Amino acid sequence: MADTPKGFDNGLTNYGDRDFARYLRRSFAKSMGYTDRSLDKPIVGICTTESGFNNCHRHFPEMLEAVKRGVLAAGALPVPFPVISLGEVFLSPTSMVYRNLMAMAVEEMIRAQPMDSVVLMGGCDKTVPALLMGAASAGKPAALVVGGPMMTGRHKGERLGACTDCRRFWGNYRGGSVSEDEINQVEGRLAVTAGTCAVMGTASTMALIGETLGMMLPGTAAIPAVHADRLRAAEETGELAAAMAINGGLTPDKIITRASVENALRVLLAVSGSTNAVIHLAAIAGRLGLEVDLDRLNTLSDETPVLVDLKPVGAGYMEDFHTAGGLEAVLRGLSRQLHTECVDITGQTLAERLARPLTDPVDTGVIRAPSDPVSPVGGLIALTGSLAPGGAILKRAAATPGLLEHEGRAVVFTSLEDLANRIDAPDLDVAADDILVLQNAGPRSASGMPEAGYLPIPKKLARAGVKDMVRISDARMSGTAFGTIVLHVTPEADLGGPLALVRDGDRIRLSASEKRVELLAPSEELERRRAAFEAPPPVAERGYAELYRRSVLPATAGCDFDFLQAKS
Ligand code: FES
Repeated sequence: MADTPKGFDNGLTNYGDRDFARYLRRSFAKSMGYTDRSLDKPIVGICTTESGFNNCHRHFPEMLEAVKRGVLAAGALPVPFPVISLGEVFLSPTSMVYRNLMAMAVEEMIRAQPMDSVVLMGGCDKTVPALLMGAASAGKPAALVVGGPMMTGRHKGERLGACTDCRRFWGNYRGGSVSEDEINQVEGRLAVTAGTCAVMGTASTMALIGETLGMMLPGTAAIPAVHADRLRAAEETGELAAAMAINGGLTPDKIITRASVENALRVLLAVSGSTNAVIHLAAIAGRLGLEVDLDRLNTLSDETPVLVDLKPVGAGYMEDFHTAGGLEAVLRGLSRQLHTECVDITGQTLAERLARPLTDPVDTGVIRAPSDPVSPVGGLIALTGSLAPGGAILKRAAATPGLLEHEGRAVVFTSLEDLANRIDAPDLDVAADDILVLQNAGPRSASGMPEAGYLPIPKKLARAGVKDMVRISDARMSGTAFGTIVLHVTPEADLGGPLALVRDGDRIRLSASEKRVELLAPSEELERRRAAFEAPPPVAERGYAELYRRSVLPATAGCDFDFLQAKS
């Protein structure tokens, strides 16, 4: 069998004359100043996501230089290429809508361009899932390196980190205990360095999941963005990717397996990670014909302890997590529950990794021993029941314990606009033990499943000291948010799911112990409402928005496009 072409000979442009295509490609490549010696090397593509609209990636130029250094030192040619970047707070209606677009760009650019392996550089919430989804489908050896978390800021002697503290201060401002001057001062102290949000939000959770899946160099997920070790991790990732390009490396389907996905779920539960990670992990797994089963999630949750004491649920920040021992310490705490036969991009098994002695003792104030967990059960559970027959997610670790078993009267908002218009109205009929319901904020809705599940506490209740209420929606919630919040209700309201049938005054019962959320209205009345249901008119008629509306899968299937999942 002929050798597979390497480097610039890979995937020649089709002119009907291979030799001419090679000649033309090399002559154009020479316009970039490459020597023949460089042009003959295997190529490491470096998929970069720097953007003026992505503050979290502002240190990527320096990281890119470090990756290139590693590739060159190991004897391959580094060739960076851009894909779209997703800066969480700069996208409308929400970054979630564009995750699949980025994943398509990643997949197609890895496949279409001549590279033997690829380094994936990401960090901000949707970028890591998009990179892994695209790379999983492209099928070339790939190594992920993340930007790492921000350092914390300071305000009146306390540490601040985006964006759990953003929400806390904003809630206090709404409640009247923080002045306008102070909230403006805090605005400049929440996000003070390059890097991803400083708490165990979606970006940090996905970085840990990327490493647990095996797609990242061991020990690198939580290194702070500004730490010199972050650059060393980038250089070493470049070296490894060069070895993959020269010798052949494991493709993502050999690394992301049923067993490694289950390990990733364990870690998600043990770190009380973001609810968004359930969606992203389902989407990544779906690219390889695997699934995240919600019953299995609940089984794992009931037997996996929370080991990590970080915001938004606990006390610390990601910089504390890193110095306390990072993912290595969490994996050791969970070792008896993990599938240790899984391999990572270096080719080692998890068993081999865990057999090595730790270089530093674990700070058990931040990462607890399994014998002394923060909680004996995992941070997330899936719910089902008459209100969410297809499933929903509750971050029980972030909930008020007294609300985990609760029955209350529904106060319904039919859209984000309705919510914005009425939530603070003085005459809103709402009490502290009511349940706030938001409809039409799911994947297919006009709002594109925003992080709106953290409905604000109505101002009049916030001013009376109410800090939490049961809130239910088909939306998502930021990984940095907290509260008794039921999310991702499936089927979503836009498709006529039971959530669409809830009316003001209906009784709803949440039981975390039974893992149920029930709409208690009489069945004849629900049938009457179902018969009268009219789907909101579709808002998109062209372009990517229309592709999204037609193709997006439910939250429980990862909100990927139906045509991008692996064919079974
Ligand atoms: Fe980028 Fe939070 S905004 S990680």
